[in-house]
Amino acid sequence: MKAAVIDHAGGPDVLSIQERALPKATSGWSVIHIKAFGLNHAESITRQGGSPSVQFPRVIGIEAVGEIYESSTPELVVGEKVMTLMGELGRQFDGSYEEYALVPNAQIYQLPVEADWAQLATIPESGYTAMGSIKTAKVQSGQTVLVRGATSNVGVAAVQLLKAMDTTVYASTRSEKSFDYLTAQGADEPILDQNGELQTAATFDAIIDFVGDQTLNDSLSHLKQGDGYMVVTGELADTWETDTFSAFNIPWGSYLTNFQSTDINQSWLDEMFSLINQAHLRFPVGQTFELADIVAAHHLLDAGHVQGKLIVTTP
Ligand SMILES: NC(=O)c1ccc[n+]([C@@H]2O[C@H](COP(=O)([O-])OP(=O)(O)OC[C@H]3O[C@@H](n4cnc5c(N)ncnc54)[C@H](OP(=O)(O)O)[C@@H]3O)[C@@H](O)[C@H]2O)c1
Repeated sequence: MKAAVIDHAGGPDVLSIQERALPKATSGWSVIHIKAFGLNHAESITRQGGSPSVQFPRVIGIEAVGEIYESSTPELVVGEKVMTLMGELGRQFDGSYEEYALVPNAQIYQLPVEADWAQLATIPESGYTAMGSIKTAKVQSGQTVLVRGATSNVGVAAVQLLKAMDTTVYASTRSEKSFDYLTAQGADEPILDQNGELQTAATFDAIIDFVGDQTLNDSLSHLKQGDGYMVVTGELADTWETDTFSAFNIPWGSYLTNFQSTDINQSWLDEMFSLINQAHLRFPVGQTFELADIVAAHHLLDAGHVQGKLIVTTP
């Protein structure tokens, strides 16, 4: 089978397609025939040597969709459509940038959605992170919700899921040119994020923030007072900390927390699949590549100009 292997850290060119032996299922682990996977910035960081725990050579890739090829448990049936994400996939053990992957049974999940493989590959990391953020923000139907950094892949998944939950969705971008894109995803009202300030006086029942610490105080100023929830899920501005934060910036009686997709909550996954199926949601695919073109795909990932998820399909 073919695998995109990284022997040492570096630019996109360090991803080399190599021939490897097919993995065998072992106790507690099963083999997935990978059909497609989405690309993530976390993988670019790992490729560049920014994940100290990752030892090279390594096949990176933190998510995939495919079929069970060889199983070590009756709960995973050969041919079954599944997805996997996170855990130590593509970090402590080889990840998704290959045709077949050996994955712990505990992190293989059923994928009850009918769509082609490239479309399905938009779901695991972006969809689950969006759903986890929504659940962490304790969003209820009928509420007003702001998604800050909404043109991101996780952002548009959040917009679509929130719309399907009957909330009123406000969605921010730094470019008015993206307003139509956000409206097409289901946003009720796009909002311009200009020099770190949202161009609105509105406050919201819940805020899901993908921009992070750089705009933390501005986001908090738009959270309602009393029982509002704000969840920081991303650091698109790449700031990671702020020296201007005060606990008294949180509106009285409201809450600030974060979301991390490290541990997967099956009931949140089930709720996400229900929303996807009931509302026929389709998270946008930016561009698709074959595994052989993984270097070109990573160049595009690093450039960061494509709206929609970059997807790699395998035979
Ligand atoms: N916590 C978790 O478990 C988890 C899991 C997955 C991802 N994440 C995080 O979630 C975020 C979104 O991930 P993604 O892969 O969906 O991102 P993405 O698709 O690469 O996001 C691209 C968008 O980010 C916006 N952006 C870029 N730099 C920005 C800045 N300085 N300020 C404001 N917006 C900026 C741009 O929107 P505009 O130009 O339209 O403003 C651009 O369209 C990332 O920070 C990622 O690390 C977290």
